[in-house]
Amino acid sequence: MSRKNSVISYTSSGINDKVQTFSLKREVGLVSAVSLIAGTMIGSGIFMSPQWVLYNIGSPGGSLVIWAACGVLAMLGSLCYAELGTVIRESGGEYIYILRTSGPLPAFLLAFTATFAVRPASITGISLSFAEYAVAPFYQGCYPPQLVVKSVAAACILTLAIVNCLNVRFSMSIQVIFTVAKVLALLVIVIGGVLLLFRGHTDSFHKAFEGTIVGINNIGVAFYQGLWSYDGWNNLNYATEELKRPEVNLPRALMIAIPMVTALYLLVNVSYLAAMTPRELMSSNAVAVTWGTKVLGSWAWLMSVAAALSAFGSLNGTFFSGGRVCFVAAREGHMPDILAMAHARRLTPSPALIFTTTLSLLVLIPGDFQTIVNFFSFTAWFFYGITLSGLLYLKIRKPHLHRPYKVPFIIPIMVLIAAVLLVLAPIVDNPQIEYL
Ligand code: ARG
Repeated sequence: MSRKNSVISYTSSGINDKVQTFSLKREVGLVSAVSLIAGTMIGSGIFMSPQWVLYNIGSPGGSLVIWAACGVLAMLGSLCYAELGTVIRESGGEYIYILRTSGPLPAFLLAFTATFAVRPASITGISLSFAEYAVAPFYQGCYPPQLVVKSVAAACILTLAIVNCLNVRFSMSIQVIFTVAKVLALLVIVIGGVLLLFRGHTDSFHKAFEGTIVGINNIGVAFYQGLWSYDGWNNLNYATEELKRPEVNLPRALMIAIPMVTALYLLVNVSYLAAMTPRELMSSNAVAVTWGTKVLGSWAWLMSVAAALSAFGSLNGTFFSGGRVCFVAAREGHMPDILAMAHARRLTPSPALIFTTTLSLLVLIPGDFQTIVNFFSFTAWFFYGITLSGLLYLKIRKPHLHRPYKVPFIIPIMVLIAAVLLVLAPIVDNPQIEYL
């Protein structure tokens, strides 16, 4: 039974024993919704992953195919989520969908894994990339000390935690501003790339598919890296209760945000490859800075700033949704009640945010970016798969439910097959204890 109505709220004057139902305010409109999705998707990945996709797949053509395929997968996945989000209209993303379709045990496992491992890991991963790019201008030509990088990452996590505890509207305006800033930054890379192509920098694209590696493990890891950059396509489903007119705005926001991000990612990759050879791209560990050095010359530091800002905005979106999973799970009785409390006046789920922050800071101590990305994508797609089977269940067993948005049957089946392959392929090909 839902415990929605039995949460006791705390106010500044002590325990308020008036029984309350919590709903967060409906403050998110279409523009905010688009930036909540695009702003979370565009983050660290497009500045960190291209060399890994290329490295694993072995050829520029192959790498562009992977980037496009990841975009298509994100789009199809999000269409399935649009139906889920308009049928099950509660916030909480995968958690609430799994709870309503597969029952409390899988939902509890998801909430547990998400709260204790996946969210903190993604927060830490993005904050690390923020820190790497933020300190890059001060350590030109050498690697920055780990202590400096991790301290900057911790400062970034703490700042955003405080902002998100203070005010939903404020954290939304940060989101809009950063989304605009990073879309502009990516556009600079795209325009630079187009100019390069016109000037005849097309060497990387001759024999584009030469050297493509078709091993299961390589393709799997290339997808993990690419999908990390697209992750966040499901972000709005964490906050459907805060969305104005969700039945209209949820599908609409997805259909604007995801194709836009896919196009940008593809063009940015083309631009990277126009500016440098595949070999240079693979050996660069901050590809945007290498691109900047080649194309912008002494203005290359702009790219460090852009990449850092981009990660900052993405982290903000991750916080926004991360606190909410914890909050919704606690509201259902799957987490301690204190995590279900929202601030009495500001209506932000502060205790859940503070909890997520603490765990992220703990993960930060030993964490490194690459391991986190592979761990993240593997675990995330495992749960996306379970969520999609829930959607199929609803479509088969409850066809009469009111569905403001209906996704064709074949789409969840295709995405489910992709999720199964993504999760099984690396395990079968190269079993490792981490997967367990
Ligand atoms: N796509 C983001 C990036 O490239 C990572 C998103 C992590 N996941 C999330 N739900 N916030 O940095």
